[in-house]
Amino acid sequence: MNIGILGSGKGSNLQAIIDAVSSGRLPVKISLVISDVENAFILERARKGGIRAEYINPGRFKTRLDPEAERKYIDALQRAGVELVVLAGFMRIIKDDFLRAFPNRIMNIHPSLLPVFRGLEAWRQALEYGVRFTGCTVHFLDTGTDTGPIIMQAVVPVREDDTPETLHQRIQVEEHRLYPEAVGLFTAGKLEIRGRRVLIKS
Ligand code: GRF
Repeated sequence: MNIGILGSGKGSNLQAIIDAVSSGRLPVKISLVISDVENAFILERARKGGIRAEYINPGRFKTRLDPEAERKYIDALQRAGVELVVLAGFMRIIKDDFLRAFPNRIMNIHPSLLPVFRGLEAWRQALEYGVRFTGCTVHFLDTGTDTGPIIMQAVVPVREDDTPETLHQRIQVEEHRLYPEAVGLFTAGKLEIRGRRVLIKS
């Protein structure tokens, strides 16, 4: 299966997926990586891994793609034959037309145990709230922000001496384990969405 990855930042989750593919654990082809940030490290990682990587200008808005840009993103992914879109730190909201182009075929990873601490810097929100446990969630995308059906979650204990940085680092260790696994379940046809629930078939 061909997958496409979208990201705005350092791309450590892309790297985890690349590593899973190269070690043979994840039988997919990463056909295209797109970023809305021209000098994002995720593009460099992709190119180093021999993967086609493109910057596509997101347009005039800060938190979403403008309609013309959205068209370009969808076209590029469709032309590359992408069947699953994997969001890996993509910092823009994906709107209806995009979702309709890839129905139940867009995944995201979020650094908290959803549905708590949606939105930005979820690890900081967890620390400030004082929870003992947080973690990460892989979910399908729907029209809300971090609200789609949950595929997998991993728990990370919060330490009393944690800073936002140390907590985020430990959450990322779990992300790098979880995301390739979730992508693998999808591409093996093992995920079935039933309403809000995602069933994992054996
Ligand atoms: C991750 O923490 C992920 O949960 C969030 O954005 C961050 C991306 O990190 N959606 P990276 O660019 O994959 O290192």
